[in-house]
Amino acid sequence: MSSADSLEDIRLSAARAYNKNVDDVSQERSRKLTQSRMLTENDIDALAVLEYAAQDILMKYHAAMRQMEVRLETLDQDLKLRQRRNPIHHVESRMKSIPSIFEKLERYGKSSTLEAMEEHIMDIAGLRVIVSYIQDAYDILHYLKHQDDLTVVTVKDYITSPKPNGYRSLHLIVRIPVYFLDKKEDIPVEIQIRTIAMDFWASLEHDLKYKALRMIEGVDAPAELKECSRIIEQVEERMQVLASALEGRSPQAHAVDEARTRTVGEDYLMRHGAPRPPAPPRAPESAPLAGSR
Ligand code: GTP
Ligand code: MG
Repeated sequence: MSSADSLEDIRLSAARAYNKNVDDVSQERSRKLTQSRMLTENDIDALAVLEYAAQDILMKYHAAMRQMEVRLETLDQDLKLRQRRNPIHHVESRMKSIPSIFEKLERYGKSSTLEAMEEHIMDIAGLRVIVSYIQDAYDILHYLKHQDDLTVVTVKDYITSPKPNGYRSLHLIVRIPVYFLDKKEDIPVEIQIRTIAMDFWASLEHDLKYKALRMIEGVDAPAELKECSRIIEQVEERMQVLASALEGRSPQAHAVDEARTRTVGEDYLMRHGAPRPPAPPRAPESAPLAGSR
């Protein structure tokens, strides 16, 4: 069956499902909503108390998040000066809310205390770095690993090894020093680095997950999403080869510096080469390039 045929099948099944299931779906949705745990007034009071008590802690994480954002901006500006392009398309930041911090502690089977929150929740402060090309993601990781006051605590490479549903991104936990009046603390920040294409897929998948209540007869939605992820990956690899060629370097041109890159993206780096060393600065009168912010 051609992909045009299968697309048409999906459209037809979706239309049939829509007509048939509209009522079932709204009933199912309200059933799920009423099943979810209602917060009592006591719960709400407890959350308010926790929110108040956690203010000092959240302030530290907020400071760490902002400082990390500045570091990424600095890297991007420096790379723009040297390479005449911005690898970073944009950065998003968010602080995790107190209810979702405690929901996560509960899910992990940890106690609902501020100590447990600092010990176990590594994504209180989160940044999402959207880059243009796959290689840019590994380059950013490479440069962060070489900032000697930063500690890259964990790397989850869902680019080399996508999640079973097709999710792709590079997830890091990085500790950054934050200075206060009387002390310095290394505060963890979660950084998700992904390309524009990976972000496109993840945003739509996130949105569709919440619509998964509607079963479409004859359509395997998870398999379809996974297939879309695979197609996006192929397109990205082709764009990467084109970009490398247009920038005048072969993806294989640089020897892989295994000692520095072994722990992450090994397969990817073996296939595509190591991060580019920064090129010498060029004349500043360059025209803005496509894709720059
Ligand atoms: P959480 O408890 O969800 O934080 O999981 P974790 O701590 O094991 O981290 P994981 O590496 O699974 O990544 C968590 C974050 O990555 C999520 O909060 C999402 O922002 C993103 N993420 C992970 N998996 C998916 C996915 O399948 N789809 C989408 N859209 N986002 C995902
Ligand atoms: Mg998370």
